[in-house]
Amino acid sequence: MSKKGRVFSGARPTGRQHLGNYLGAIQNYVALQTDYDCVYCIVDVHALTTVETTQELKLNTFEMAVDWLAAGIRPEETILFVQSHVPEVMELHTYLSMVTALGKLTDLPTFKEKVAQQPENVNYGLLGYPVLMTADIVLYKTDVVPVGIDQAPHLEFAREVVRSFNYRYNTKVLIEPQVKHTEILKVLGIDGKAKMGKSLNNHIELASTPEETTARVKDMVTDPARMKRTDPGNPDICNVYSMHKIFSPAEEVEMVNVECRRAGIGCVDCKKRLAANMNKHLEPFRAKRSELASKPDEIQDILNDGGRRARAIAQQTMVEVRDAMQLP
Ligand code: TRP
Repeated sequence: MSKKGRVFSGARPTGRQHLGNYLGAIQNYVALQTDYDCVYCIVDVHALTTVETTQELKLNTFEMAVDWLAAGIRPEETILFVQSHVPEVMELHTYLSMVTALGKLTDLPTFKEKVAQQPENVNYGLLGYPVLMTADIVLYKTDVVPVGIDQAPHLEFAREVVRSFNYRYNTKVLIEPQVKHTEILKVLGIDGKAKMGKSLNNHIELASTPEETTARVKDMVTDPARMKRTDPGNPDICNVYSMHKIFSPAEEVEMVNVECRRAGIGCVDCKKRLAANMNKHLEPFRAKRSELASKPDEIQDILNDGGRRARAIAQQTMVEVRDAMQLP
């Protein structure tokens, strides 16, 4: 194969995906398959740092896998798998922890945020989160990691750990991963203020019906200065307009841009058009999704097969790692 190298990325099992996940990450994962060998991982072990009951983990993993596959992840070429299916990652995590300075972990902004968010559950796993993430990446001899900007400190951390390990054991067995930032555009929620997310309930689910989507779009916040239909609006600060730019044909985007400014089009009409274009865009995804979701055994087979292929790579890496460490 003449691909450019290996891509690895992971995401916590958050269940059904929304437009923010799709535009910010999934579309990019799909596109990378053309040029790279891709390994995509649903990181259920990482989820345990914040999830106290595991009863929804299976369902959330399933729903997320279905969305990714429906969006165009191709399991014949790409490895799509669940983190806990490859226990070698826990072993590598332990070895890497020995070359990791504690202060580096406590300094990370992501750790501090979690401590503030869940002061009642500051567990050891939360601190080790970036070490496990590093193990994910290097276990598969990854060249490139596509992640959102919020993960930049973790990637820098991973690169340092790789250097420490290779230096300590005088080896080149681990590869320093390159980061590729994905989130070019920040997708705002229907409130028009915060980043789209499930926890804020400002999201639009990819799997929602056309009617549900239309209702969500109807609730979107527009230019707050435009109180009446006859007031001119400002598309530059309107999230509905930002979405038009993604989902609507160029002429329609231009029409909205011009007509909104002179009150030629009202918000109700503008949203109807957006919802129609969004639904049209998502139609093939939804058809594929419902087909996939009706065959849960096949989804499980895909994940199991991905797990086997991932594990074969992981086992080979661990032979080399133990050898470099001169473990008896
Ligand atoms: N830390 C990532 C997040 O919170 C998830 C993740 C785990 C990951 N392991 C990874 C991302 C490896 C990229 C590579 O979103």
